[in-house]
Amino acid sequence: MTIPDHSHRSLTDLLSLAGRVAVVTGGAKGIGAQIVRRLTEAGADVVVGDIDAAGAAESAAEVAAASGRRVIACGMDVADTATLAAAADLAVVELGRLDIWVNNAGIFPTTGPAIDVTDEFIDRMLTVNTRGSFAGAREAARRMTQGGVIVNMLSTTGFKGNVGISAYITSKHAMVGATKALALEFGPMDIRVLGVAPSFITTPGTDDQLAPLKAAGLDIAKRVANNPLGRAGVPDDIARVVLFACSDLSAYMTGSTLAVDAGSLAS
Ligand SMILES: NC(=O)c1ccc[n+]([C@@H]2O[C@H](COP(=O)([O-])OP(=O)(O)OC[C@H]3O[C@@H](n4cnc5c(N)ncnc54)[C@H](O)[C@@H]3O)[C@@H](O)[C@H]2O)c1
Repeated sequence: MTIPDHSHRSLTDLLSLAGRVAVVTGGAKGIGAQIVRRLTEAGADVVVGDIDAAGAAESAAEVAAASGRRVIACGMDVADTATLAAAADLAVVELGRLDIWVNNAGIFPTTGPAIDVTDEFIDRMLTVNTRGSFAGAREAARRMTQGGVIVNMLSTTGFKGNVGISAYITSKHAMVGATKALALEFGPMDIRVLGVAPSFITTPGTDDQLAPLKAAGLDIAKRVANNPLGRAGVPDDIARVVLFACSDLSAYMTGSTLAVDAGSLAS
């Protein structure tokens, strides 16, 4: 086996994704939309998958115009594996190859007390957040004929417990394990698998989730900034790290998770 020597390459070259093709699930808004922007800025062509097909089309058109890259929208429901396979095929057929797959789509409705949670609720959470990401990784790996990178959007809640969101926590803990296991199996295929674990990030999804708490008069700003850096994150805080994970800067990393959490997990 030849050991790739990156030491002579410039930082710009190591960060470049020119010639590479990515699929980002849940790319219409929030963290996913910003990941699409950063990947195209680094030179990748991208398929933007989302259950909100109109939102994906809007986001893809905006990013294509801004970056000059080829950006294609694709309606998908990560709970429907056929749509994941279709997105992977779209990348190969329309954009020529598949190098990067970002399992970003996820849902985080408040669970309520675990003692009351229904099987249907647990099934939905695990189907979207866990099976959707596992199946996405599998469909991507089947088509990454020249190696690649798979990034799983995890969460700091994949590493610790919390009250009221037990089903979400379960779904993200499962993907921490999958990130390790898939890295072992895909490594020999030259496919790296990395997790990125955000703490609280202000997005349309978290705005929706917090609306009832805000209406109840809770001091949300103080709560979400309760970390050593003293502020909530924004989507670009995550997208920059995803870019690092997808680039050759991280060529010797697989199976691990990068916490992007303003130090939340440090305590
Ligand atoms: N925002 C945070 O504080 C935070 C923290 C930790 C982890 N995360 C994770 O980051 C990811 C993105 O979160 P966000 O805050 O940007 O969410 P968001 O709700 O703002 O955006 C999520 C996007 O995913 C899409 N989506 C939802 N269900 C889908 C499905 N079944 N199939 C395809 N697309 C679907 C939505 O339409 C939307 O465009 C999620 O996996 C979430 O669990 C977010």
